[in-house]
Amino acid sequence: MKGVILAGGLGTRLFPLTKITNKHLLPVYDRPMIYYPIESLVRAGVEDIMIVTGGQNSGEFLRLLGNGSDFGLKHLNYTYQEGEGGIAEALGLARHWAGGDRLCVVLGDNLIENNIRGAVEDFRAQQKGAKIIVKEVPDPERFGVTRITDGVVGEIVEKPKEPDTNLAVIGIYMYDERVFDVIDTLVPSARGEMEITDVNNWYVREGSMTHDVLEGWWTDAGTFQSLHRAADLVARGGANKVD
Ligand code: G1P
Repeated sequence: MKGVILAGGLGTRLFPLTKITNKHLLPVYDRPMIYYPIESLVRAGVEDIMIVTGGQNSGEFLRLLGNGSDFGLKHLNYTYQEGEGGIAEALGLARHWAGGDRLCVVLGDNLIENNIRGAVEDFRAQQKGAKIIVKEVPDPERFGVTRITDGVVGEIVEKPKEPDTNLAVIGIYMYDERVFDVIDTLVPSARGEMEITDVNNWYVREGSMTHDVLEGWWTDAGTFQSLHRAADLVARGGANKVD
């Protein structure tokens, strides 16, 4: 399985912090934000990683990360997203590099306390389809929200005003090799972006979406409040703990 980290976007919710830099280069306690998703993948046993960036500061990723030796990697792969086509479009840029392998996709602003190795290994053994990781949260309206009925993943609703459940879909997704064909079928959402939730709902409709419930804390870091929370959680106990 290969790993893709999506680290583009304008980071408008963090303006003016993101006026002269990319959101994923901002500090989260003692490290740049992008370190955390790389570590999440490496600790889960995914070591062939591509970073999708964009915008004016994308060259800084190379200066910061180089070939990934800080993470014990021999090399890192990079690609560049032109414009603001959304998460699913950014993932589409990894198509040729993926070369028919399965993928574990991590949003560059997602931090987790524990190791996801178990979920990754379960997905390796899954015959086909996709896997999401879910977590109960107090503010589901900020996320993709789903319902699990008798172990079956229901339709995911992106940022519902009145969520049916408090089960958020976190920014770590696993896909079989068909994901790029699914992306080809997407149309832009109301906010003009290709939504990862639409990719996920394709697999939900096919009945091939599985899930794992995350243990330990999870946070995004794309708003002032969540960026602050992320730093606080890391400072208190660290992220990406090995079990
Ligand atoms: C994205 C996804 C959303 C998911 C969230 C996790 O939202 O669209 O479904 O729950 O990441 O961080 P965004 O951060 O683009 O608002």
